[in-house]
Amino acid sequence: MRCFALISQFVLLLICFQRYFMEEVNKYEVDPNGYLIFCLCMGRFGNQAEHFLGGLAFAKSINRTLLLPPWRTYKNVPFTDWFKLEPLQEYHKVIPAEQFMKILAPEVWPPGKRKGSCFSFEENAECKMKDGNPFGPFWDELGVDFDSTESYTVYYEEHDRWRTRFPATEYPVVALRGAPAPFPMAPSVRPLQQHLQWSDTIVEQGQQYVDRNFPKEKYVGIHLRNGPDWENACRHTEGGIGSFMASPQCIKPGGAQKVTKEICLPSTNSILKQLKQAVMETGATVVYVATDKNPLISDITEYLKDFQVKVYHQDPWLPQLDLYILGEADHFIGNCVSSFTSFVSRARKVRNKPTTFWGLG
Ligand SMILES: *[C@@H]1O[C@H](CO)[C@@H](O)[C@H](O)[C@H]1NC(C)=O
Repeated sequence: MRCFALISQFVLLLICFQRYFMEEVNKYEVDPNGYLIFCLCMGRFGNQAEHFLGGLAFAKSINRTLLLPPWRTYKNVPFTDWFKLEPLQEYHKVIPAEQFMKILAPEVWPPGKRKGSCFSFEENAECKMKDGNPFGPFWDELGVDFDSTESYTVYYEEHDRWRTRFPATEYPVVALRGAPAPFPMAPSVRPLQQHLQWSDTIVEQGQQYVDRNFPKEKYVGIHLRNGPDWENACRHTEGGIGSFMASPQCIKPGGAQKVTKEICLPSTNSILKQLKQAVMETGATVVYVATDKNPLISDITEYLKDFQVKVYHQDPWLPQLDLYILGEADHFIGNCVSSFTSFVSRARKVRNKPTTFWGLG
């Protein structure tokens, strides 16, 4: 009798599993317009995010389902580890790439039919989808090998030509070597940031730090980009240039205001002055510092001692926690040239939160 009960429970379990799996499959109907995937293979998170949003806008304009690429660190990080799926789905049809590979790829994009495409200015250029890091590991970790590759010469702005070049019947999945988007991103794409909302895990961890250290206090968040690579890069701004990396976020290319050394790599003295101004205006009791190198904690504490401001800096294991905390600040001062800053400034803009930039008051 007991044995029978056990067996019947086992059968129930099996049925349950099967139902669950069928639901997973039914959740995804095959898109007759096809799919798009590309590697976020350029730079660190800030650059990747700008490329992602551009690629998202592109996927919508050609009406293909976007396979959400994993973010790249030293490994692939599933897109939804860091961001919620639903706000993106409100904008366009998307599926996490890992889910697609597991559930739809065996039918839609089976091994043997996997073609990779590289943009090139010349016809018939070589296309090496998996050469080097992070290109190789990106596709390997998704379990993708390419059976053939090709180059194409159509710009991503040419939507009609693009659709003609890649018909869905012949290309159920278009797999691109890099993002079909410019860096820095097109200004028109910035508002799409509203669809990039932190996952519950990131919010919990970020908020935990705030609640433990300065719960409910007003704070100014600052981003100090001052590592040796940055000192090097900022040499290009000596004498002032029209545009440099993420600078269009606050300086219009071709306008009267130039990107100067003081904007790219502000002196400690001007950082302190500008910060003091922001602390006074917001009535903040806390300064939160995110940096790749020097958080200037003692300089800030000393300079602001009359205000009894506490200074926090955590160098978190996940830079996303810094981004979250900076996004929540009462005021944020960032580096105009940095795409780490531009992530925060966009996220704040779509929520009407104030941001200023070093060297621009
Ligand atoms: C976009 O593709 C979907 C199928 O995924 C289709 O139902 C819809 O009509 C297409 N929209 C346009 C504007 O072509």
